Order: sequence, then structure tokens, then C-alpha cells
Amino acid sequence: MVDWTDEERATINTVWKRVDLEHDGGDALGRLLLVYPWTQRYFSSFGSLSNAAAIAGNAKVQAHGKKVLGALDNAAHHLDSIKATLHDLSDIHAHRLHVDPENFRRFGEVFVIVLAGKLGSSFSPPVQGAVEKFFAVVVDGLSHEYH
Ligand code: HEM
Repeated sequence: MVDWTDEERATINTVWKRVDLEHDGGDALGRLLLVYPWTQRYFSSFGSLSNAAAIAGNAKVQAHGKKVLGALDNAAHHLDSIKATLHDLSDIHAHRLHVDPENFRRFGEVFVIVLAGKLGSSFSPPVQGAVEKFFAVVVDGLSHEYH
């Protein structure tokens, strides 16, 4: 089990309230698809992803980002059981979708950047530390069923 300090729990709680569950996931997914264009291969059914405007205006990217964020929201509310919470999703990404788990880490990075842009000066080093730890645990959980 992961050890969370009271401060980390409080920080994640506070930061998570600032997350826009409707849009931040789509923004992060869009950024992933642009910064790491080879990740587009997993989303061939999503239509045009050829440039920033196409990605930003792609309703499927937005809808999928919302779905991803729903899972992260669930994890953020179950800090002591993230691995169990993400078990089924790990299985799906590993055995049905065959997503390279390195991409989970990349998604965490772009999400942190989206969050930093939103929070500005409130994105202090302790906040960054807690959020990075949260994503490290999420990535670990999502990667668990790969073997
Ligand atoms: C599907 C969560 C990262 C590729 C999904 C679904 C969820 C999810 C909740 C829907 C599963 C279902 O329909 O039962 C997450 C979370 C991530 C993550 C929490 C966090 C880090 C990624 C990354 C990629 C990816 C980085 C690829 C680069 C996919 C694909 C689908 C999917 C291709 C199926 C999309 C479709 O055709 O509907 N993911 N995901 N995921 N995910 Fe992820």
C-alpha cells in the first residue's frame, strides 16, 4: 500500500477540486496526441487528428478525455486502493487495447502541464510533488496487469 502523508492527501483533495472533469481530460489527451504524435495510432477510429485545431475540435477526443478523467477522479477518491480501483482498466489496456504502458507516464506528464497552466502560482513545488506522486501510483496501477 502507498503511504500518503496527511499533507499529500489534503493537497490532492484541494487540487482535485480545481480539476474540470468535463474539459481537462480532453485538453490533456489532445496535448498527448500532439506532443507524441505516434500515440494517435491507438485512436484511428476518432477521425481527423492531423493538427492542433483538428484535435481541439474533435468531439471524440473530448469525450474520451472525459472518460479517462472519470477514472482518474475515481482513483483520486480512493487513494488507499488505487491499484484495485484501476485493476480492470489495466487489464483492458494490456490485453484488449495493447497500449504501451509508457504512454500512461506520458499522459501523466501532459496532465501535470495542463494543471500547472490552470493553477499558475498555486502550482507550488509541494503541489507538484503530490500530483506527481498521484500519477506515479496511477501509472503503477494501470501497468499492473502487463505481464
Ligand atoms: C479506453 C482510462 C491512458 C488508450 C479507456 C477507458 C478508460 C481509460 C476509462 C474506457 C474503457 C472502457 O470503455 O471500458 C485511461 C486512464 C489513463 C489512460 C485513466 C491514464 C493515464 C491511455 C493512454 C492511451 C490510452 C495513454 C494511449 C496512448 C485507450 C484506448 C481506449 C481507452 C485506445 C479505447 C478507446 C475507444 O475506442 O473507445 N481508457 N486511459 N489510454 N484507452 Fe485509456
